[in-house]
Amino acid sequence: MCSSFGGCWWQPFRTVAEATVFHVDLAAHAAHEAQALQWLSAEERIRSRRYVHAGPRRRFALCRAALRAVLCHRLGCDSQQLTFGTSGHGKPFARVDEIPEPISFNVSHGRGHGLIAVAAGGRLGVDIEERRARDDLEDLTGAVLGPNETREFALLRGNARTHFFFRMWTLKEALIKALGLGFSQDPAEFEVPVAVRRGARTSTFRFPSRPGALWRVDDLGTDDFAAALALEMIPDRRLSSDG
Ligand SMILES: CC(C)(COP(=O)(O)OP(=O)(O)OC[C@H]1O[C@@H](n2cnc3c(N)ncnc32)[C@H](O)[C@@H]1OP(=O)(O)O)[C@@H](O)C(=O)NCCC(=O)NCCS
Repeated sequence: MCSSFGGCWWQPFRTVAEATVFHVDLAAHAAHEAQALQWLSAEERIRSRRYVHAGPRRRFALCRAALRAVLCHRLGCDSQQLTFGTSGHGKPFARVDEIPEPISFNVSHGRGHGLIAVAAGGRLGVDIEERRARDDLEDLTGAVLGPNETREFALLRGNARTHFFFRMWTLKEALIKALGLGFSQDPAEFEVPVAVRRGARTSTFRFPSRPGALWRVDDLGTDDFAAALALEMIPDRRLSSDG
């Protein structure tokens, strides 16, 4: 689909149980951006033009076009057949010829890197953040971390502090995005499983206020970025998890 433009700007990045996560290269690239804009719907092109700054405009277009390519490949449809609806809190879902598809997906974009997660079913959420030392880190902890996480954060210094904070942030944001309820789920009201806080890459999780659903959380961070995936463990998935 993009071979004449120097290769695709998205690539498979990780497989987690039944979910596939794609990495999207969001670096400035005129040919990729021109190609991406061609794949967008008229409505998406209007949305992209509303971004005043080139960076957010490029990131939206590159991510949305990659999402279209990934979903069309999975669903066996043309890009013209694919449209997006949104839930009450803005989480997109896919329609083919106006009929909602049961496929699950979620998108996150940082400055230079984006992620797209896709699975046949079950709620999922993905988040990516490029780590940077921020002056407001202390203030943010109050809004994002629970009491145990705050105590653990206070014991850390320098890079370890930044790494811990962005790990917690992306894990929580992935869980919140999987729920799809936006800011109505307070991130400070729940805590990342203790094993993951201590460095494990994966664990299971239940929201204290919503114990009915079991989730799998995965730290997908690399040297370049912090990232996480949250995946609802539907009964079949509990048996077929790849660890
Ligand atoms: C909507 C929200 C989830 C987006 O998060 P973000 O970090 O600004 O942006 P990301 O790049 O990670 O994700 C954006 C994508 O998420 C998707 N999205 C939009 N609303 C969503 C929702 N309610 N749930 C899940 N995904 C959503 C969209 O695909 C969007 O990309 P697109 O508009 O280009 O298609 C966020 O604004 C929000 O509501 N956060 C609440 C959680 C919170 O308080 N977090 C603080 C740190 S834990």
